[in-house]
Amino acid sequence: KGRKSVGVLGGGAWGTAIADLIGRNVAKHKHLFHEEVLFYVRDESLRLIIEKTRQNIRYLSAIKLPLNVRPVSSLSDAVSKSDVLIFVIPHQYLQDLCYAINDSISTRNPIGISLSKGLHIDSAGNLELNSQIIHRMLGIPVGVLSGANIAIEVAQRQYSEATLVNPLTNDKNCEELFRCLFECNLFRVSFCNDGPTVEMCGALKNIVAIGCGLVDGLGYGMNTKAAALSCGVREMIRFVEVFHPKYELSTFFQNCGIGDIIASSFGGRNRKVSEALIKSSKSIEMLEKQLLRGQKLQGPQTAHVVYQLLQNKQLLNEFPFFSAIHRICNRTMDPKDLIQAIKSSP
Ligand code: 13P
Repeated sequence: KGRKSVGVLGGGAWGTAIADLIGRNVAKHKHLFHEEVLFYVRDESLRLIIEKTRQNIRYLSAIKLPLNVRPVSSLSDAVSKSDVLIFVIPHQYLQDLCYAINDSISTRNPIGISLSKGLHIDSAGNLELNSQIIHRMLGIPVGVLSGANIAIEVAQRQYSEATLVNPLTNDKNCEELFRCLFECNLFRVSFCNDGPTVEMCGALKNIVAIGCGLVDGLGYGMNTKAAALSCGVREMIRFVEVFHPKYELSTFFQNCGIGDIIASSFGGRNRKVSEALIKSSKSIEMLEKQLLRGQKLQGPQTAHVVYQLLQNKQLLNEFPFFSAIHRICNRTMDPKDLIQAIKSSP
């Protein structure tokens, strides 16, 4: 009960675009939210610049953040004062972040929502999703927002959509709260109850986007790319069948599925870096520094996790496209063999 305070955790491109969207939305829904949004930016020099100029000059300089978005460097401040916690950091840092904020979780029963895209393996060797990590480590309910959301396009207010998983299933008040938090006339959200599939789509499409970038780098045209893309979608569905048998096929046709697959395979960073991987001898880490100003990709790590999970289940043979992408990323397979992998995918 009462007005909610919102904290956005993560000062990358997507964190900044979301802080901008939420800053404007809380100002419109004053009966639901406190007007100030706490925006946690880890790097203090960047935080100071954002505070002074309202611009995230490193990752998303095209927009100026509204004045009610307050960049803060104290994670415990951001967390202890928030009723809604938005997790929007590269998934590989999520466990460290949860560990760091464990003691700051307030007694106001906060609700979390994960905007990160990636997969993990737990200590028993099983698949673990971002929302499950947050829930396990912090004991709070966690929802998901995932869609075709290239940060700069959302920031420029080009029409976009996303799929939202309510942290409190079937709680209409909570649904309304999250709709008001994210939706505006140029950003439509649709609710979906099939949370694990929404989250797996967001992670797996990054592998497909790498495959499409490799096809681009190899110099092939649209037919080959379409073959890679459809093969990738089939492997995504098969993967979800294995790890979440209660999935609903219709989830793949939501924005979090086919929408995000298309946006990422044509316009994402994973696509861009994997094209460059073919054309240079540099490692992915070097290309991230060179092409993305140090932003971290999610695809290569996700491809590695998927490879390990499939290996554990002795299913690599049924996923030749996913397997090949991992092996091309770690340079144990010749990229030219990608075509054979696509051909042999069931
Ligand atoms: P990239 O990380 O490949 O840029 O993907 C962005 C994205 O998730 C768009 O929805």
